[in-house]
Amino acid sequence: MNKTEKLQELKKKMEADDSLPLKKGATRLVFGVGNPETEILFIGEGPGYWEDVKGEPFVGNAGKLLDQVLRVISLARESVYITNVVHHRPPENRDPEPSEIAAYGKYLDEIIKIIDPKIIVTLGRFSMGKFLPGTYISSIHGNTHKVNWNGKEITVVPMYHPAAALRNGNVMFLFKEDFKKLSEILKQAQEEKKNKTSEKDSGKTPEQMSLV
Ligand code: URA
Repeated sequence: MNKTEKLQELKKKMEADDSLPLKKGATRLVFGVGNPETEILFIGEGPGYWEDVKGEPFVGNAGKLLDQVLRVISLARESVYITNVVHHRPPENRDPEPSEIAAYGKYLDEIIKIIDPKIIVTLGRFSMGKFLPGTYISSIHGNTHKVNWNGKEITVVPMYHPAAALRNGNVMFLFKEDFKKLSEILKQAQEEKKNKTSEKDSGKTPEQMSLV
């Protein structure tokens, strides 16, 4: 099974899971969207009104801002994968409870396993708390953190949530600055990958070289 098929199968399993605590109050499951082959996974908080209507993460005002900052750093929304810590809309857009985050967490872990990203960008404190518990977003936003996630090293980059940026001009400034930093982090990761590939390929004939 390829990644798309695995994600599709997992989505079906989630849709059939009546134990998910926010299911009753929501219109539909908002699973995730984007390119499963990406090395960059964005994780937000949970669906809001428009996400619940359309079944896709980040399609409301916060999503428009996310698309805008992704465009600024020449990263197409379709080239990355985007999901949330909870996949049904919490009533009245309230914050998700720790027990709800835990209930959806086993599925989010499966999504992470399937996508197998090198970089996870967390949007907001709930998503950040999954990988960097006990931290404050005001102290660590925009920095890289190497995390061992189920035996695999992942670089986590915590960002402010775009909805917080829309509410506060100072946060908006920091949010945009952090995306410029993210652009540098991605360039560096690409360089490291290129160097590793050429190290691996040194001594091989051109035919033996990995062209990826
Ligand atoms: N906010 C989120 O955290 N996720 C969405 O999908 C939409 C808004």
